[in-house]
Amino acid sequence: MRVFEMQNKISLEALTLTERNDPYPGPEQVLIQMRAAALNYRDAWVVNGLYNPNLPLPFVPLSDGVGSVVAVGHNVTRVKPGDRVAGIFVQNWLSGGMPGGILTLGADMDGVLAQRVVLHQDGVVHVPVHLTDEEAATLPCAAVTAWSSLMVQGALKPGETVLVQGTGGVSLFALQFARLAGAQVIVISSSDEKLEQARLLGATEGINYKKIPDWDKEVLKLTGGKGVDYVVEVGGAGTLSRSLNAVRTGGQVSLIGILSGISAEMFMPPILMKQIRVQGIYVGSRATFEQMNDAIALHKLKPVIDRVFPFEEAIGAFKYMEKGGHVGKIVIRI
Ligand SMILES: NC(=O)c1ccc[n+]([C@@H]2O[C@H](COP(=O)([O-])OP(=O)(O)OC[C@H]3O[C@@H](n4cnc5c(N)ncnc54)[C@H](OP(=O)(O)O)[C@@H]3O)[C@@H](O)[C@H]2O)c1
Repeated sequence: MRVFEMQNKISLEALTLTERNDPYPGPEQVLIQMRAAALNYRDAWVVNGLYNPNLPLPFVPLSDGVGSVVAVGHNVTRVKPGDRVAGIFVQNWLSGGMPGGILTLGADMDGVLAQRVVLHQDGVVHVPVHLTDEEAATLPCAAVTAWSSLMVQGALKPGETVLVQGTGGVSLFALQFARLAGAQVIVISSSDEKLEQARLLGATEGINYKKIPDWDKEVLKLTGGKGVDYVVEVGGAGTLSRSLNAVRTGGQVSLIGILSGISAEMFMPPILMKQIRVQGIYVGSRATFEQMNDAIALHKLKPVIDRVFPFEEAIGAFKYMEKGGHVGKIVIRI
């Protein structure tokens, strides 16, 4: 089978399409014929050696993908041949709180940028039937993260307001889930064109953070001085202070990403004076993934895909993501 792997060096340039022997499922394992995979910002860090410079080689990247089960080990009961499944991001987090010593696909263990992969039966979920393979491939990381922050670590209610940063994968899922819950959504973005696309998806307000760098003040104006109920914080060091200004007293800032840096000098008083809940988010459990899938299936929600690349052009997909012009998810058809 064909697989993209880094053999001797961790770098995007070293990622090569090679041949590997077909994997064989053990008693508790499932052999999956992959159909589509999706990129996340983390994957660029992984292939550039920024996530784990000591990644054991050879290594197959990407956490997110969907495929058909083609064979199962003799103790497998959760799925059967012909089922369409996605791998869960944290392979050993099934429900409840996150365990210590997590194993994530495409970083702590080989990922899914391959024609066939073998996973433990516990590490897969069925995906909603109304989705195409490309759409279903986008769910394991970005969608589960957005769902966790608003519905599991948050309790979003109709009429509340959510602020999402940018128009990437996590933010657009957060926008769509917030709309399902009957909430208002304010989007900040680098581009007026992208804000227009966000409005078509149901965003109530948009702010161009390039033109209005103090977007937090604008958010306060838009919410009558109160602030938003939730911030889906993907910017990190460069945006957190403004998010603390933009959230209401008693509101929640879900710390998810580090797009604008990993460390910053912080002015702490707003956190205590406004009793803000600053909640770290790390994707979510299998139970959270399945709960989200139920909602996606019920509402026939469709993930936003920016572009689909053929398998052979996977490296082009990484380069495209690094340019940052996308809106929603970038997918590779396998
Ligand atoms: N903790 C977790 O469990 C978890 C899970 C998934 C992702 N993440 C993290 O979340 C972040 C986003 O991931 P993603 O996959 O959604 O990325 P993505 O699809 O690549 O989206 C990135 C988008 O964010 C916007 N952006 C960039 N810098 C910004 C800034 N300074 N302020 C506001 N918006 C900014 C840009 O959109 P515009 O051009 O529209 O501004 C950019 O296109 C990454 O840091 C990723 O590692 C964390």
